[in-house]
Amino acid sequence: MGCRSLAFLVSGNGTNLQAVMDAIEAGELHGSIAVVISDRPEAHALRRAYAGGIPTAVIERGHEPIEEYTAAVVRELKKYDPDLIVMAGFMRILGREFVSEFPKKIINTHPALLPCFGGRGFYGAMVHRAVISSGARFSGCTVHFVTEAVDAGPIIMQRIVPVEDGDTPETLADRLRPVENRTLVDAVKLVCSGAYSIRGNRVVRGQEGHQ
Ligand code: GAR
Repeated sequence: MGCRSLAFLVSGNGTNLQAVMDAIEAGELHGSIAVVISDRPEAHALRRAYAGGIPTAVIERGHEPIEEYTAAVVRELKKYDPDLIVMAGFMRILGREFVSEFPKKIINTHPALLPCFGGRGFYGAMVHRAVISSGARFSGCTVHFVTEAVDAGPIIMQRIVPVEDGDTPETLADRLRPVENRTLVDAVKLVCSGAYSIRGNRVVRGQEGHQ
């Protein structure tokens, strides 16, 4: 397929955005980031975008119905006609229109090994807290296609990190961050290559085109 233009949805620090910006800069990934959209004006990810000369938009969530908010995000995205939309720490769940407008064009990175520790309410530090209190010995990250079911779309890539004795959500997040950043770059590369197919809920490498 090839990705001339990527769009990012962010809410926070933007280390995953930065990893993709760096991979493009290094010539490891081809294409460019057309826009970074945040729901929070104070998101550090926006500063990273400014520093990289990438257009930004802030669409704050108010008390409007989710459909209205979703329509505003979709309108903004459509201005850029993105080949791939990357949800990289975007802490909102958008309405149906989002997925139906961009079928098979949206991926998300999640800070745990889905299908565990995912779905509504599982985001950011809350995920790490739940992993630690479950007693799990390993955690990890998942990059997956976004479908209507939250955190349940076809899994593109996962990598693991150990959960150490005495871990806090912060120490576990710090261990996972570089692994997740790398995994997202690798997953974007795979999706943009088009050399995969979707079998059930799994993305299988090495085959051209979608099923
Ligand atoms: C990442 O760990 C990402 O998986 C998580 O937020 C962090 C954003 O980091 N996303 C979620 O929890 C969404 N369910 P970043 O802003 O440094 O890229």
